[in-house]
Amino acid sequence: MAETISISEGTKAEKYQLVIPQIKALIEGEPNLVANLANVTSALKMTFGWFWVGFYLVEQDELVLGPFQGTIACTRIARGKGVCGSSWDRNEVLVVPDVDAFPGHIACSGDSRSEIVVPVVLNGTVAGVLDVDSTQLADFDQTDANYLTEICEWLGSNCF
Ligand code: SME
Repeated sequence: MAETISISEGTKAEKYQLVIPQIKALIEGEPNLVANLANVTSALKMTFGWFWVGFYLVEQDELVLGPFQGTIACTRIARGKGVCGSSWDRNEVLVVPDVDAFPGHIACSGDSRSEIVVPVVLNGTVAGVLDVDSTQLADFDQTDANYLTEICEWLGSNCF
């Protein structure tokens, strides 16, 4: 596997187009889920500089904190609670431009202002979610939703 990643100076879409093949290359041939998800969070944080990037994994009726990059975070989230639990419950990408305006948002850090959560689906069932937080309001849009969904679909088929 590569020891470093190349980071594009270009647009958000160009950054995704450069990092996605690198994420796939990092994971190919490595069967360990924790190792792979840890490297995905690092590659995304290094590329975009977001405040927090991490996975929550479904365990029975809760999400449990998985590999992440950023400040310490809440370890368990019930189904339907917060942005993560809602994304899991609805099996839907949630783009939240202002976390204070999302009913039930769980504030792991007061510095987070906007958030996107993308489900990872395995055999039709949500196995976890990718959660990304930014200190900027409205930092995520449909471009992020599209590319992060591409990453999570690939993880669901190749990694989980
Ligand atoms: N804000 C999330 C909780 C996880 S932290 O942001 C890392 C939520 O409302 O589900």
